[in-house]
Amino acid sequence: VREWKRTLLDTNLTLPRSYKPWDLVSVSRANIKGSGKVRKIMIKDLRALAKAARRAGKPLAVRSAYRSYAYQRRLFDSYVRRYGLEKARRFSARPGHSEHQLGTTVDFTTAPGVPLTTRFGDSPAGKWLARNGWKHGFVMSYPKGRKNQSCYGYEPWHWRYVGRDLARKIHQSGMVPRRYLSTHFETAP
Ligand code: DAL
Ligand code: ZN
Repeated sequence: VREWKRTLLDTNLTLPRSYKPWDLVSVSRANIKGSGKVRKIMIKDLRALAKAARRAGKPLAVRSAYRSYAYQRRLFDSYVRRYGLEKARRFSARPGHSEHQLGTTVDFTTAPGVPLTTRFGDSPAGKWLARNGWKHGFVMSYPKGRKNQSCYGYEPWHWRYVGRDLARKIHQSGMVPRRYLSTHFETAP
């Protein structure tokens, strides 16, 4: 997957089961709390984002980053057992469909161990991130009230790195990232 910025993933489009980025490194290299791995290409911007958040008095931590196909399958299956297939599909990507498999997507919280809830969107850190994430190359994949275009409900914690140029364009367009990618680029075969 060379087109890491453009790759569109949703409830229909998938990555190959075998896809794994070759340059995964620990998020600690970006001097941010929490754990997980992301692609090395985004460490510089993740470090800048974390630093800006700290300076604003709203530190961020990584709750979840790269997830392999196998891990996403275990996660999805556990949701299916707990909530049933129909409900699980509304908030969790099936294996191969998750942006986390790209290694460029991060779930943020306010501190390590804090669970993911939509309240993060109302927290000072969540609000800061919503205003400033794009400046560092990140876009919110699943904004509030846009489920018909994003495929999933509001996830204020889930940010995909697309690089600063594309993030600015998506931000300025006001479009849901999935919609922006599908109208500006050809979809993967
Ligand atoms: N929660 C998002 C949709 C995922 O599972 O990747
Ligand atoms: Zn996520």
